[in-house]
Amino acid sequence: MLKIKIRKVKNEDASALAALFPHWDAEITKKRVERAPKSKREARYVAEIEDKVVAHLLVRFGAGWQSHIATFYSLVVHPDYRRKGIATELIKYAIKNMPKHIEIVNAQVQHDNKASLALFSKLGFEVYGRLKDGWKKEGVYKDLILLMKRIR
Ligand SMILES: CC(C)(COP(=O)(O)OP(=O)(O)OC[C@H]1O[C@@H](n2cnc3c(N)ncnc32)[C@H](O)[C@@H]1OP(=O)(O)O)[C@@H](O)C(=O)NCCC(=O)NCCS
Repeated sequence: MLKIKIRKVKNEDASALAALFPHWDAEITKKRVERAPKSKREARYVAEIEDKVVAHLLVRFGAGWQSHIATFYSLVVHPDYRRKGIATELIKYAIKNMPKHIEIVNAQVQHDNKASLALFSKLGFEVYGRLKDGWKKEGVYKDLILLMKRIR
């Protein structure tokens, strides 16, 4: 069976993440990674297979009247490692390690991202809405499906 190791991001992961996210600016990726361990507003995880970083997940913690909510961002698994349960393990790990004050986890998925919608549904997330034109890139709009799971 595949041995998946999930851990918090480290400074030396910057180049592996730049390869996972070729559309991210490499300098900004480096800064994001360096900032991550100190931040109280986010947790950034990676998955390793045989010491190779193959996936990433960012969790952002809400503030003020949303301080009981965490939102998942930038979930990606390297194309060579998909359908092996890695995203499932990342999300389960992130939920298990949520700060005690987080009660709800939240995700936003492009309406045509069947893989991601199936993944969150399998993990027990429920659809609570649709944000019309909630995603925009280079003049193209897509609806976002809003998903949530109560964890406590
Ligand atoms: C979506 C993504 C993160 C899934 O990662 P993964 O590690 O392959 O997912 P898992 O192996 O944990 O899959 C768990 C379940 O999700 C569903 N799923 C995953 N990929 C799927 C696909 N391509 N088609 C249909 N269902 C899929 C299945 O129900 C799967 O369970 P199964 O393999 O037992 O059938 C990955 O495809 C990816 O990185 N895609 C590009 C980036 C992206 O879309 N990120 C999400 C933004 S919200």
